[in-house]
Amino acid sequence: MKKLSTFAALACMTFGPLLAQPAAAQFAKPEDAVKYREAALTLMASHFGRMQPVVKGQAPYDAAQIKANVAVLKTLSTLPWAAFGPGTEGGEARPEVWSDAEGFKQKQQAFHDNMAKLSAAADAGDLGKLRAAFGDVGASCKSCHDSYRKKK
Ligand code: HEC
Repeated sequence: MKKLSTFAALACMTFGPLLAQPAAAQFAKPEDAVKYREAALTLMASHFGRMQPVVKGQAPYDAAQIKANVAVLKTLSTLPWAAFGPGTEGGEARPEVWSDAEGFKQKQQAFHDNMAKLSAAADAGDLGKLRAAFGDVGASCKSCHDSYRKKK
């Protein structure tokens, strides 16, 4: 029993601080967080951008295909943000991501609100609403980039 409680105490000391910061604990090094969020953002951009021909009327509207793609995009859209934790400055992220964390959070919220509209439009199979929501989501990508992503 004594051994077990020693082990438990050690486990608490080792894992306690990690469990208190789940976002920080996901990455061994800051560069890993940068790689992770850039990969997630790249996938997000791919699943967003591939709908553009449909939205522009250059490709036929296949409601089931769009719905499936938006479901993937919705999941992807939740991924990047936990990888902007404290101490992960770098990549193309501006220092304002950390110095103005509240503003950065608001941009995420606006993005998620517009993603919810896109998701509802895709589920409803309504091309008109999809078009409008697609524009709103795109505007929230740009609005965040204008403030928090370095210009090339
Ligand atoms: C809340 C802010 C925010 C929103 C919303 C946002 N981005 Fe970004 N995006 C960033 C930041 C910050 C970076 C730079 C990340 C880095 O390099 O560490 C970035 C980088 C990227 C990159 C480059 C990834 C790479 O490989 O370097 C792409 C592509 C991208 N975003 C696409 C999008 C698209 C498309 C949307 C909307 C569907 C979007 N982003 C929404 C903040 C945002």
